[in-house]
Amino acid sequence: MIVLDNENRVFTLHTKNTTYQMKADQHNVLIHTYYGPRVSGSDLSYLVRYMDRGCAPNPPEAGLDRTYSLNTLPQEYSTCGLGDFRLPSIEIEYPDGSRAVDLRLTDWEEEQGKYELDGLPFFHGAQASTLRLYLEDTTTNLVVELTYGVFEDCDLITRCVEVHNYGAAPIRLCQCASVCLDFLRSDLDLITFDGCHLMERSPDRSPLRSGTQGVGSVRGTSSHQHNPFVVLCDRNANEDHGLCYGAALLYSGNFQAQVEVSQYDNARLVMGINPYHFCWTLEPGTSFTAPEAALICSPNGLGQMSRQYHRAIREHLIQDPLRGQRRPVLINNWEATYFNFTADKLVDFAKTAAPLGIELLVMDDGWFGKRDDDNSGLGDWSVNTEKLPGGLEALVPRIQELGMKFGIWIEPEMVNEDSCLYREHPDWALTIPGRAPTRCRNQLVLDFSRAEVRQHIYKQIKAVLSSADIAYVKWDMNRSLTDVWSAALPAQCQGEVFHRYVLGVYEMLDWLRRDFPHILIEGCAGGGGRFDAGMLYYTPQIWCSDNTDAIDRLRIQYGTSFCYPVSAVGSHVSAVPNEANGRTTPIRTRGVVAMSGTFGYEMDPNQTTQEEKEVIREQVAFFKEHYNLIQQGDYYRLTDPFQNGPYTAWAHVAPDGREALVSLVFTSLRAAQPFRVLKLKGLNPQLTYQINGEGSWPGDVLMCAGYPLPMLNGDYQSLQLYLSAI
Ligand code: GLA
Repeated sequence: MIVLDNENRVFTLHTKNTTYQMKADQHNVLIHTYYGPRVSGSDLSYLVRYMDRGCAPNPPEAGLDRTYSLNTLPQEYSTCGLGDFRLPSIEIEYPDGSRAVDLRLTDWEEEQGKYELDGLPFFHGAQASTLRLYLEDTTTNLVVELTYGVFEDCDLITRCVEVHNYGAAPIRLCQCASVCLDFLRSDLDLITFDGCHLMERSPDRSPLRSGTQGVGSVRGTSSHQHNPFVVLCDRNANEDHGLCYGAALLYSGNFQAQVEVSQYDNARLVMGINPYHFCWTLEPGTSFTAPEAALICSPNGLGQMSRQYHRAIREHLIQDPLRGQRRPVLINNWEATYFNFTADKLVDFAKTAAPLGIELLVMDDGWFGKRDDDNSGLGDWSVNTEKLPGGLEALVPRIQELGMKFGIWIEPEMVNEDSCLYREHPDWALTIPGRAPTRCRNQLVLDFSRAEVRQHIYKQIKAVLSSADIAYVKWDMNRSLTDVWSAALPAQCQGEVFHRYVLGVYEMLDWLRRDFPHILIEGCAGGGGRFDAGMLYYTPQIWCSDNTDAIDRLRIQYGTSFCYPVSAVGSHVSAVPNEANGRTTPIRTRGVVAMSGTFGYEMDPNQTTQEEKEVIREQVAFFKEHYNLIQQGDYYRLTDPFQNGPYTAWAHVAPDGREALVSLVFTSLRAAQPFRVLKLKGLNPQLTYQINGEGSWPGDVLMCAGYPLPMLNGDYQSLQLYLSAI
């Protein structure tokens, strides 16, 4: 609900559990007055104090009033160059070289329904409402439009920023953040999600300190190293208690999230496109739209914050072509064959996998061009008929006859120098004139900022996807951007290439969805290098990590769960010893971990024993039976795998509390085990449950006293408890 106090110019956004408020002050500066647990909508600007502070500049309208300074006011969208010395949200260079922005509120309007964005991902919802605030810099005729989407049920507030140049001269936008959030306190912890290839999104929590701290990416993707999702929370906040603020950016390129603690112990979060190598020329009459940001405040701990993000992403962001239907359990040939496969080998996979209940065969890298290893072929998207005689037209029906659907891997953004495409169009790769290009996995990045490059690649891929009945596409992206320079843009516009590249990727994903609306797309970037809310708008699921070891995955999936729902997390059972770390885990445990995601297999089914096949058959049946509970249920982290405890546990609970699935993996083993009890969460205290079809366990007892864990011998054993209300 949006409450407008037009007379006092107080703008209040209410969600079910939270309130967000702004106010235009006596000089029309938009100040941020409150964000926190839901309160009545009265004017909270009394919280903002005015004092004559040392070295605090006063704007001209303040006259002799030294108590009014931008540098001490909580700003809704921080400016620069005119007295606020903290983190700016926007920076502009004018033709005379000056860099200052002064924003004053001029107008506002409310709309029913959620605003949409053109060419950028966004949350959608007819039930949501929109508030637009117009701020103007009258000296330069610059208008900044701040737009808010309010989704009450999931406590989601989206923000979007559009900059319009109504002046007579071109200007250069050097920074344009998507969100600025000022707090009248700094006793908060910052949690970021960091890592590397094979070990993505480990939570890193530390108290805010004076000065600026933060994370970002300059790799052209959101990156394995840091995620465009951060949390600020009470120092003592935990899963169940404390005030927590999440901020997610719907963007898959360079981002920056910074928090500054100022001299008077106020904190400011600024998040948006990374200003590194960003500079957008705004000709008169044109506009720039920054990516959307998604804020969720939870008054009741990190668990509730995550569950609200999960709900918001599932219901309002992901556009699943199979919405309402179960997504297929898949088998992918990558870890089983790498580049070394033929049509017959894939058919052999399907012959064994289909009777086990597996429904989709995904043919990974190596099916196209001259691609027998990762040194050549990228860019030539036509079927290698030596490996697949007769092309997909011949192969796909063979798979379908066995009762399975067919999926395919692509990596449209890349090119190998050893490819027909590169030989014909060397200037289509991102390279800097006069410099030998930097290779990574022996490949270069195509200049997706250029329409003709995108169109050429898309034409080839469209032909492949049209040649057979394809149900699934894995869109991969296996290197970071370097040598960022486009042959198609003049020198002064090279600062646009990184962002235009991302817009180009989004555009091609839109074409794919338009032309093949029935195809399920899985995102991927060397595993989880582009696991962000922006991609989830186009690809309902994302390969979470190239690391398929069940024990490492406990940590990776734990970190991922802070923002992203189970239904987004690509997760497979693979062979042991695991190729990433050599660890051997029981197949049951691998299944327990993988089915807390989209679930599939990535191993040669013909190399499994009869006993393993039976386990797979059971796992697939179990997953299908509990699909809705796992994919749509409320997710509870019951332990933190980074605490090195004896086990990691989590639960999926039906929204009505009538059923739950608790999963637990023992991660360390010792003799003479102590008696252990697991306290459950999210159950209905008034209901009584059966566990795995037996007994009668009151919900309150399971949550307060707990469930006694069995003592399992052997490394990495696991347990699944299915609870159903009697
Ligand atoms: C990336 C992906 C893998 C696989 C390979 C193929 O590493 O993350 O799953 O598709 O590329 O080259």
